[in-house]
Amino acid sequence: MATYQATASAPVNIACIKYWGKRNTKLILPTNSSLSVTLDQDHLRSTTSSRADASFEKDRLWLNGKEEEIERDGRLWVCIDALRKWRQEMEQADSGLDKISAYHVHFASHNNFPTAAGLASSASGLAALVASLSHLYSLPQTPSQLSLVARQGSGSACRSLFGGYVAWRMGEKEDGSDSLAEEVASREHWPEMHALICVVSDAKKGTSSTSGMQRTVQTSPLLQHRIKEVVPGRMDDISKAIREKDFESFAKITMRDSNSFHAVCLDTEPPIFYLNDVSRSVIAVVEELNRAAGKPIAAYTFDAGPNAVIYTLEENMPKVLNLINRFFPQEASFANPFKMDWQSAQVPE
Ligand code: DP6
Repeated sequence: MATYQATASAPVNIACIKYWGKRNTKLILPTNSSLSVTLDQDHLRSTTSSRADASFEKDRLWLNGKEEEIERDGRLWVCIDALRKWRQEMEQADSGLDKISAYHVHFASHNNFPTAAGLASSASGLAALVASLSHLYSLPQTPSQLSLVARQGSGSACRSLFGGYVAWRMGEKEDGSDSLAEEVASREHWPEMHALICVVSDAKKGTSSTSGMQRTVQTSPLLQHRIKEVVPGRMDDISKAIREKDFESFAKITMRDSNSFHAVCLDTEPPIFYLNDVSRSVIAVVEELNRAAGKPIAAYTFDAGPNAVIYTLEENMPKVLNLINRFFPQEASFANPFKMDWQSAQVPE
């Protein structure tokens, strides 16, 4: 008897232009477009295997070995359902195809980076699940079409279906059919770009992205300015900077957008604080490094937590590492645990 099984993996992505706010919470349609860099090394990935079998009684998911509930109409369920419907359509059009859309599916998903690194794993996790099930079903859909599904699992997941530099276009349509991810440039286009991940704290964040961003949508007047006046221009400018490999512009825009995102968090009622004193010290150190260099040679960015990601070109990575090491001395080596080009640093509080 044939077995129907597929495995896929997807990496973490870190936004330079942040997604923060939904105009439709069910379909996960954002209030602004966003742009990220997919971290391409092997150490920061989620891998998901899916298996369909006539003997399975329901869909089930194990995350790092622990079973998680797949709630009906929940985000995960919506993703599985959408892909299953595409498979059903294929089976209806081609009677020679095995009717595996009728089978339940078991998923096993693993993150190969320590949860302690404090990195968001929902983006890579959902992207890997969508990629794996689409392989299992032999779906002909393109990564951009699959991003429409991954988006409904977790907004930022839609960007992890691509490597390199990725834009999530917010779209205009109410059904969300134009709110998808697309490649701005491949990783190979600008391979000198590196990222240093500074783990400031591995504690679970106080306010989840999902609830935090909706509170911002409901209460922050500053968000309206950000989404209407600020982000559209930045999307164009950073895309141009990437195309032209203009690190100075890339860095300026990345840092300003991180600060703009944290400003709208502060403008939320009650305010949301993701940065802590160590995060702010990292900002000060990078600003000082750039001032001394006479131009931006490093760019910090922070998501919904205190951990810093510093983008820099390969030639400047030793300088950045030395500086971070000097200001945030600690026992663990910075080359650990993510060697290769994307590195990680444990910064003590
Ligand atoms: C600050 O994608 O985790 O990392 O769509 O509710 O699952 P949901 O939110 P999520 O939000 C990510 C927010 C961010 C910015 C970004 O990645 O663009």
